[in-house]
Parts: sequence; C-alpha cells; structure tokens
Amino acid sequence: MEKKLSEVVVIDGVRTAFGKAGEKGIFWKTRADDLAVLLVKALIQRNPELQPDMVEDSIWGVTNQVKEQGGTLGRAVPMLADWGWKVPGCSIDRMCASGLTAVGFGAGCIATGMADCLLTGGVEHMGHLPMGFMRDPHPRLQEVMGGPSAFNMGMTAENIHDRFPEFTREMADRYALLSQQKADRGIRAGKMKQMIVPMEVELSDGNRTVVERDQQPRPETSMETLAGLKPAFRENGRVTAGNASGLNDGAAAVLLMSEKKAEAIGLEPKMRWVSSAVAAVDPTIMGTAPVPATLKALDKAGLAMDNVDIIEINEAFAVQVLYCLDKLGLKPDDPRVNIWGGSLAFGHPLAASGPRLVTFLMNLFKENMNARYGLTTMCVGRGQGYSIIWENMWRA
Ligand SMILES: CC(C)(COP(=O)(O)OP(=O)(O)OC[C@H]1O[C@@H](n2cnc3c(N)ncnc32)[C@H](O)[C@@H]1OP(=O)(O)O)[C@@H](O)C(=O)NCCC(=O)NCCS
Repeated sequence: MEKKLSEVVVIDGVRTAFGKAGEKGIFWKTRADDLAVLLVKALIQRNPELQPDMVEDSIWGVTNQVKEQGGTLGRAVPMLADWGWKVPGCSIDRMCASGLTAVGFGAGCIATGMADCLLTGGVEHMGHLPMGFMRDPHPRLQEVMGGPSAFNMGMTAENIHDRFPEFTREMADRYALLSQQKADRGIRAGKMKQMIVPMEVELSDGNRTVVERDQQPRPETSMETLAGLKPAFRENGRVTAGNASGLNDGAAAVLLMSEKKAEAIGLEPKMRWVSSAVAAVDPTIMGTAPVPATLKALDKAGLAMDNVDIIEINEAFAVQVLYCLDKLGLKPDDPRVNIWGGSLAFGHPLAASGPRLVTFLMNLFKENMNARYGLTTMCVGRGQGYSIIWENMWRA
C-alpha cells in the first residue's frame, strides 16, 4: 500500500494571560486544568465549524504531572470542557518543551495519516507545582549529567557565561531590556488581545477579576535597574531576576488539522508545518540546545537560517539566547527575532511556552505577509532543544 504524507496546518492558537507564580499571582486560586479547559472552550467558540467529535486526540504538554496536573490531564480537559468522553487524550513531558513537543507530535500524527484534527497545548502552574516538586531523581543522574549544576537551570545559564565569557552580564541585561521594550510595544499596540482568552478568577484576597493581561512584563525596566540586581543563583554570578525568565502560571493551545480536513469544513489554515527536530547537548549548558535542534530542522527542510523570516526563540535566560543567536549567525537585535518580546518579559510557564511561541508566530505571519518561513525553538532542562519550522499561509 502506498503511503503519502498529509500537509499539516495550524488553524488557531490561543493562550491565557501569564501570571506570576505564588500568592500574589493572578492564578493563585485557579487550577492548572481549568486554564487548559478555558482554551479548549475558546477554540470551539472562535472556530464554529469545529465540532468536538472531529477532534481525534487531545495532546497536552505538562512538565510536572502530579496533583492537578497529573492523571493524564490531556484526557480530562476535553471532558471538563463538556465535550463528552469521546475525545482521547494524553500528557507529554519534555520539561520546558513539553508543549512544543505536543505540537510536534501532533504534526507528526497528522502528517502520517493517523489523525486529521488534533488539539495540542501546554499548561504549567509553577505556583501550585514548583519546579522539581515531588521528583525523585536516580542517585546516579547527577553524576551522568555532569554535576549538580545540571539540575539548576539558573546554574546552567551561569555555566554558559563561564564557558563563553564573550557573552557578558552587560550583554545579557541589554538583551533583557530589549525583550521588555519589544513586549511593551506589542502590548500597547494591542497585539496580545488576539491570542489571550480572558478569564474570570478569584484573587488571593477574595476579590474577583477578569484576567486578560500578562502579569510579569516590566515596561519600566532600564539598564540601571537591571545592573543593580543581585545574582540570583550564585555569588559573583551574572544571572539575575532581570535577565532570567520568571516563575509563572499559564496555558496555551494550538489547533492542528490536515489541510484536506480544514478545506472540507471551511476553516482557514494560517501556517503549514515544514519540519521538526529534537537534539541533545551537555545538560550543564542546556540552553545551547536550540542550535543543533534548529540546524537539524533546517537541514530536514532543505533551508538555511537566511530563509527564515521570523524567529520565535524561547528566552529561558538572556545568555542562552545570546549564545544561540550568535551560533545561528544572528545579532541579538536582529529584527526577525522575538518581534513582540519573549519569555524574559512575559514569563515562562514551562510547558505553556512552546504553544505560546507557535501562537505568536501565527499572528506575526498575518502581519508580515511577505514572510515565508518561521522558526519556533526552545531549550529544555537536562540538555535538549526542540525546533519546528513553519510556512506562512497568509502569504499571497
Ligand atoms: C531568577 C529567579 C530566582 C527570581 O525569582 P524572584 O526573586 O522570585 O523574582 P522577582 O520577580 O521577585 O524579582 C526579584 C527582584 O528583582 C526585581 N526585578 C526583576 N525583574 C526586573 C526588571 N526587569 N527590572 C527591574 N527589577 C526587576 C524585582 O523587582 C524584585 O525586586 P524586589 O525584591 O525589590 O521586589 C526566578 O525567576 C527563577 O528561578 N527564574 C528561572 C526559572 C527557570 O529556571 N525556568 C526554567 C528555565 S529552563
């Protein structure tokens, strides 16, 4: 039997606002699974042609799969959205790239004909389930990963500063400032409204409010205030709360279809999946991994970095972005990179960040009709990188 690949397209991407983890966070009294349910409901509302029984799997990235994020959240979410029990579901863990992997696995399933319509996403409530919560690593894991710093993401960023001293604290702060400035411009121009689904929540003081803005961006950031921040992870270090992503709560979801299915039900495809790749690096410098992952994805697509018009790279730490951009032949202020800012400004609710990057790219493609290819890429704790290349379908 001859088998052909199907074209995979993105129909829609949505996200919650991103909150700060902890009692002062907007989602302190909101469950992680409810964040995901909100998005599932919104996708149906935004795309009335979509019926729940068309969705063949609900694939959710979740890093910490315990308590409210455990028990196969991907299966529970469509049922909690009142879609009935007919939509299967699973949860995927590739730490920070859990959600991007959900999108990538979904694309693979559609490409190979296993499904025509998939719900993919990522959610993380770092306030309720802090990084490493209830984890019990094998006693030999530290040794095989290269030492204790591999377990602490901030220390892996310090390791990049140590091993590649050409990327200085001043450069990291300057990059962080740029991310805040770009995010502020994007927010003020109303760019977040098209992707954030408002949610009514109860705050820790008991008041109710509708959350529709990210909590973390700091438009008042300046080089002076950044320079004054103390190292967060070790004495005499260079990584601070200003040039690191924060601890956050949030969710993002992406609706994938085969191009044929989208056509059949009359939904407009926004971008086409081109290639995906995952790669591994030394866990003690995990932030460098978007480089091999991206080079591999480009190679699979028969493309070079010069062909990529829009780049969405997750900003776990400023120094790892500086490293990756440099090795991919890009300047830190390249106008193609994180046009509306990145995780240094918006925050990084681990598994939610990958689908956020995809959602940003989808909306950026709409505004940049001449752009043809886009990249979504991120690093992963324990030394991995995940990259997906997309093609703009708004393009004339
Ligand atoms: C770096 C980190 C430890 C900081 O945590 P925190 O201390 O709770 O962070 P806060 O947001 O409270 O910021 C700390 C201080 O820096 C200040 N600050 C943070 N960003 C700032 C900015 N852009 N401009 C000015 N000041 C800033 C805050 O105002 C705060 O000052 P205060 O204590 O006087 O109020 C935490 O965000 C972290 O662990 N980040 C990495 C997360 C991670 O590893 N993710 C996985 C990636 S792979």
